[in-house]
Amino acid sequence: MPGPAAGASVTAQAPAKVNLLLRVGPLRPDGYHDLVTVFQAVSLFEEVTATPAGRWGVSVEAVDGTDVSGVPLDGSNLALRAARALADRAGLDEPVHLHVRKGVPVAGGMAGGSADAAAALVACDALWQLRTGLDGLAALGAELGSDVPFGLHGRTAVGTGRGEHLVPVLTTAGFSWVFVLGTAGLSTPAVYGECDRLRALGGWSDPADDDRLEAVEFAVRSGDPAVLGAALSNDLAEAACSLAPELTRTLRAGQRAGAVAGVVSGSGPTVALLASSAAAAQDLARDLTAVVGAERVRVASGPVPGARVLEAVA
Ligand code: C5P
Repeated sequence: MPGPAAGASVTAQAPAKVNLLLRVGPLRPDGYHDLVTVFQAVSLFEEVTATPAGRWGVSVEAVDGTDVSGVPLDGSNLALRAARALADRAGLDEPVHLHVRKGVPVAGGMAGGSADAAAALVACDALWQLRTGLDGLAALGAELGSDVPFGLHGRTAVGTGRGEHLVPVLTTAGFSWVFVLGTAGLSTPAVYGECDRLRALGGWSDPADDDRLEAVEFAVRSGDPAVLGAALSNDLAEAACSLAPELTRTLRAGQRAGAVAGVVSGSGPTVALLASSAAAAQDLARDLTAVVGAERVRVASGPVPGARVLEAVA
């Protein structure tokens, strides 16, 4: 397929993620933790439009009332860093303006910033007609953030290392989710730090091996929400609940409202509730809206594809 014409603007989207399993190993000398995780991409999206401009810049727009006040608009913005990294790699000096439409909670444990980076990479790759390929973009993305490669790949995948080494879990089964947003963002490093602190207090030692990964892979392939619900687990949940005690109450509210199961999404503070069907997810969302307000409730399904071009305008 020919790429967009030179001078075009290109829009790409990338999905949010939920971790069906998040097994956190000990702190590494480089400040990261080795993970064994199962990511699932869900149907909350970031859209990034890249337009040639006189200088590098970024703007942000809320979708569905997402609070975007915490998103940096300077050189630290992850979408902008991604675009500039791709330009550097290609030896290009062609500034773009990025317009980001945010449908993923900010600092919510759903990899919204990583999705911005993934969408920016795909949009700019198409704009500049680089044809870098998924592996090349993922290698570049991994330098920007541990979850960026998954934002590019999408679907369901086992992640190891920092979360950047991915192996797809092949399945045709879909699941219905309700996400309840926290009232304030949680910083990912703070949650990992709290996890280390709690582990040191409790004399934690890394379990040599466990069968949680196998159980989640089986559950994903089964397509049975009850089986997946029983297999969901997140080693960061205790730390996230320690820093944001409202999470425990939200998990209980989800249970009372009829969720099959609930889990903290990544480092939180979003809570992911698994529903037994798409109709049940709508019911669950309606009941939770009455408790926490519509602005904190999102319905989504997974898995969905990774970052892709939506539109190229000449
Ligand atoms: O890679 P990313 O920028 O998303 O990571 C943010 C922070 O989260 C890291 O600086 C680190 O403190 C923590 N982290 C970690 N282990 C991982 C991924 C992230 O400790 N595997």
